[in-house]
Amino acid sequence: MKKGWRIISLMLVMVLFASMLAACTSGAGEVNVGIVLPTKDEPRWVQDEQRFKDALADSKYTTEILFSQGSSAKEKENVETLINKGIDVLIICPHDGDAAAAAVEAAKKEGITVISYDRLITNTDAVDYYVTFDSVAVGAAQGQYLIDNANGSNVPLYLYAGAASDNNAFLFFEGAWKVLQPKIADGTFKIANSSEAEALKDTADLTRDQMSKILGQVTTNWDPNEAKNKAQTHLTAASNDLKGEVVILAPNDGTARAIADVFATDGDITSYTVTGQDAEKASIQYVIDGKQSMTVFKDVRTLVTDAMGMAVTILDGGTPETTGSYNNGVVDVNAKQTDVIVVNQENVKAELIDSGYYEAGEFTGL
Ligand code: BGC
Repeated sequence: MKKGWRIISLMLVMVLFASMLAACTSGAGEVNVGIVLPTKDEPRWVQDEQRFKDALADSKYTTEILFSQGSSAKEKENVETLINKGIDVLIICPHDGDAAAAAVEAAKKEGITVISYDRLITNTDAVDYYVTFDSVAVGAAQGQYLIDNANGSNVPLYLYAGAASDNNAFLFFEGAWKVLQPKIADGTFKIANSSEAEALKDTADLTRDQMSKILGQVTTNWDPNEAKNKAQTHLTAASNDLKGEVVILAPNDGTARAIADVFATDGDITSYTVTGQDAEKASIQYVIDGKQSMTVFKDVRTLVTDAMGMAVTILDGGTPETTGSYNNGVVDVNAKQTDVIVVNQENVKAELIDSGYYEAGEFTGL
């Protein structure tokens, strides 16, 4: 009997100790850091989820990751769920930069620190920090790749862009236009699929409104199906002088593969150079196979480390370090920016396999 009591009280002490430990590690609320990502339908964001999970494995703080599935309403609901779980820091990549303002304003009201992740939340003062890749450099690298791989003059240039609801789509296009425009103006390239871009071919610095007009014609909405349909429409309408050897500005890997597949099956296209970004596994295989010319590798591990590093600094009562700022239409948001790497057939193995980002066994023909 006595022995039984001793065991029971020992167990009680253990339970008490365990719950004290749990309370310590999870702070005041159930969850310390809430993470909201735009959609599981694109490998890019599943990559981010995995890298967050890897980074969080031995964190002293608790986190929860929710996906918005391409819906601003779902995104707002996710933020509310996380607010109710007592988060102190919100890391959020918006589906739609403007529409996400309402969600982060609700978080701000509760004293939560808001970190915009990869995409900037626009036209609100309720964003504290921004962690991002150098998106203008992404577009410039894509444009430069097309220049470096074009032969002769009047080379048909097909332009495609991301979703106008994503601030990054403008930054990518701005970067690409900065390098492509002089080569359009001097006759190296001939725009094949945008009368708005053609009308602006002598304008070096485009305003946001001017870019909106071009995006209105050549957006993919980040949707491979839309990209495929647009490419088909453009090739059906193209005269013979817009075929042969062509170059294609595709904004990311998902749309690049869709567009490349269309161009590859047109008998009047003799060769194409097509850009991308994200180093998605499927596109790495396309690069190895010579079906996609390049991708811009954005090391998601760095972005995740920066975002979590900021969150931990804030939770520990400090002020995160930043390297610059981005204006979001209302305020200058302090930002930490990361560089990007151009990957093609020549360096794909060194940058993505030898670096340990992916495993060789995930690809064929390396
Ligand atoms: C991201 C890209 C991504 C695209 C579509 C952009 O905001 O920076 O990496 O491919 O959204 O999801």
